[in-house]
Amino acid sequence: MDSPPPRPETTCARAAPPVRPSTAPLVPPPHLSVVYRFEGIDHVDDVYAGRDDGFVYARDGHPNAAALADRIAALEAADAAAVFASGMAATAAVLLAETNAGDHVAFAEQLYGKTISLIGRELSRFGVSSSGFDATRPESLADALRNGTRLVFVETLSNPLLRLPDLPRLADLARQAGAKLVVDHTFAPLLCRPIELGASYVVHSGTKLIGGHSDLTLGLVAGSKGDIARLSSVSSTFGLSGNPFESWLATRGLATLPLRSARAGETARDLAVRLSRSGRVRAVHYPGLPEHPDHDRARSLLSGGFGAMITVDLGDRARADAFIRGLRHVPFAPSLGDVATTLSHPSSTSHRGQDPELLDRLGITPGLVRLSIGLEDADDLWADFDRALAFVE
Ligand SMILES: Cc1ncc(COP(=O)(O)O)c(C=O)c1O
Repeated sequence: MDSPPPRPETTCARAAPPVRPSTAPLVPPPHLSVVYRFEGIDHVDDVYAGRDDGFVYARDGHPNAAALADRIAALEAADAAAVFASGMAATAAVLLAETNAGDHVAFAEQLYGKTISLIGRELSRFGVSSSGFDATRPESLADALRNGTRLVFVETLSNPLLRLPDLPRLADLARQAGAKLVVDHTFAPLLCRPIELGASYVVHSGTKLIGGHSDLTLGLVAGSKGDIARLSSVSSTFGLSGNPFESWLATRGLATLPLRSARAGETARDLAVRLSRSGRVRAVHYPGLPEHPDHDRARSLLSGGFGAMITVDLGDRARADAFIRGLRHVPFAPSLGDVATTLSHPSSTSHRGQDPELLDRLGITPGLVRLSIGLEDADDLWADFDRALAFVE
């Protein structure tokens, strides 16, 4: 007997039955569902046991994160990857998965300020100690290592001075000490593959160059199958996972990453040379310039160019402020990796609140501005810089 047609409330409340067309969409859709349907208890058992493919609950995994993670693993020459709610969530997952009370983390003093706070201030509350070292002097790592060192944490290109550590050497030293090397590769996707240079984990803020449009917040980690499985479990338990729509957007961003990265890198090199030759700034920090202290290493370790970031020393805070105010088109917006060029002032943003003695030692002064070069025409950008430099003068 046919059941009576449902009343309007029921029609509206029930999910539409799955559509199973004979054609597949060319573009995989965002899967916004929080939860997945099972045929019965055997089915749920099979999915949990990995005998059947499937997803259960979005915090544990979903098709858009799986698609993005697959590509990141391939790009990083890793066995596996996982997606997190932000770059900081990705870093937090590595720290939470790898350390226990009594363990120790050695970190580069050049790290992003919030990563230093996470390791130095937050993790210490859980009994994990840490010490900093100078990533540009691998021998200083020896002093930072302890018996219980589990992780050595560095960035490929440091923020804001774009220093490039000797990654293979650091990987060796970490391995000899029984620790894993973690490389935050946010500034340098595609420029090299840290896992091939000896890293155990590669971390990205997907918010930056990978997303590429300043419209998503996401983090990524690539590593071995076992390590990523452990990270995924930590991510689910601590609630650190990335959401479907932003994973979908990041996958879309990846499609143009090689083009954006190559183009922005070429423009950055051109502008770094012009700024350096202008004689109108105190210093230009760009690893593609012969005068950069890590230029030779950059030439040997980086095969995808020198990156899209340039840091300019204008001398002092007042001159940096005049430069920022003199720009007509490049906004002071403290992030990076957008299709349009943006500027940041590290001492008042990314490194705000850090130990003044450390900032002084690292040379992170109030006169520094950091440019994230986008896809505009180089001459148009130069015209804006030229105007701003005239404003400074
Ligand atoms: C080098 C680096 N790592 C990690 C992060 C954190 O990423 P997110 O903002 O996505 O949490 C940032 C943010 O600026 C960064 O610059």
